[in-house]
Amino acid sequence: MPNTRVTHFKPSAAHVAIIMDGNGRWATRRGLPRLAGHKRGVERVREVVEACPELGVTHLTLYAFSTENWKRAEDEVAGLMRLFRWYIRKEAAKLVEAGVRLRFIGNRSRLDEGLQKLMASVEDMTRENTRLNMTVAIDYGGRDEIIRATERMIDAADAGELKRSCLDEDTISRFMDTGGLPDPDLVLRTSGEVRISNFLLWQAAYAEYNFLDICWPDFTAETLSHCLENYNSRERRFGAVMG
Ligand code: IPE
Ligand code: IPE
Ligand code: MG
Repeated sequence: MPNTRVTHFKPSAAHVAIIMDGNGRWATRRGLPRLAGHKRGVERVREVVEACPELGVTHLTLYAFSTENWKRAEDEVAGLMRLFRWYIRKEAAKLVEAGVRLRFIGNRSRLDEGLQKLMASVEDMTRENTRLNMTVAIDYGGRDEIIRATERMIDAADAGELKRSCLDEDTISRFMDTGGLPDPDLVLRTSGEVRISNFLLWQAAYAEYNFLDICWPDFTAETLSHCLENYNSRERRFGAVMG
């Protein structure tokens, strides 16, 4: 792993999820096209991924494209899809080497076939890795995920594999796209917006949140380290009264 300039610090936020927002504004403020901001945003991912293991983060989930983002101009959507393909091609071997397991969540069926194949192949290549569990949300929406999970539960019930009496929170979690992954401890959003925009609606029920004023292309390993320090100073109560 290359040096990431992060001071040694042992946080307890094992799962960090990030809404990587503000690429467009970052570019526009510099007189650049929005896609230049998206490219810079994708380039930022590597440093953050590399910083996670030494910061004690075992799971990193990144929101890359929402079910609502299809409403954007055709050329912006096409540019983003090109960037996702570029990222997988460029990073796959490095992820294998760095011990990162990459998974995707979201409704894959609407993505073009070439991208779907690349996603499946990098998931396969990194399947045995355990140093960091990285999940990228593409064509992901929390509500869409709940619909698809419900469809899977109905199919399982029809097949006699799921009984109504077995329906509990753990069962529903298993049927979500994130089945098998822990819930996020800390959700970060860049860009200054204070909303969750359909991200991990079920999983982030008790997450801590941190809304940052910087745009995603300005996010560094050091920013992550500061967010984890801030997280460590919080008291998570989960509805109980602490003694
Ligand atoms: C986040 O940046 C990337 C995606 C949503 C795909 P934006 O493109 O939303 O940037 P802003 O919010 O317009 O600045
Ligand atoms: C959320 O950002 C989605 C991603 C970062 C992928 P948006 O820019 O799409 O969200 P809104 O439109 O500001 O809610
Ligand atoms: Mg945005």
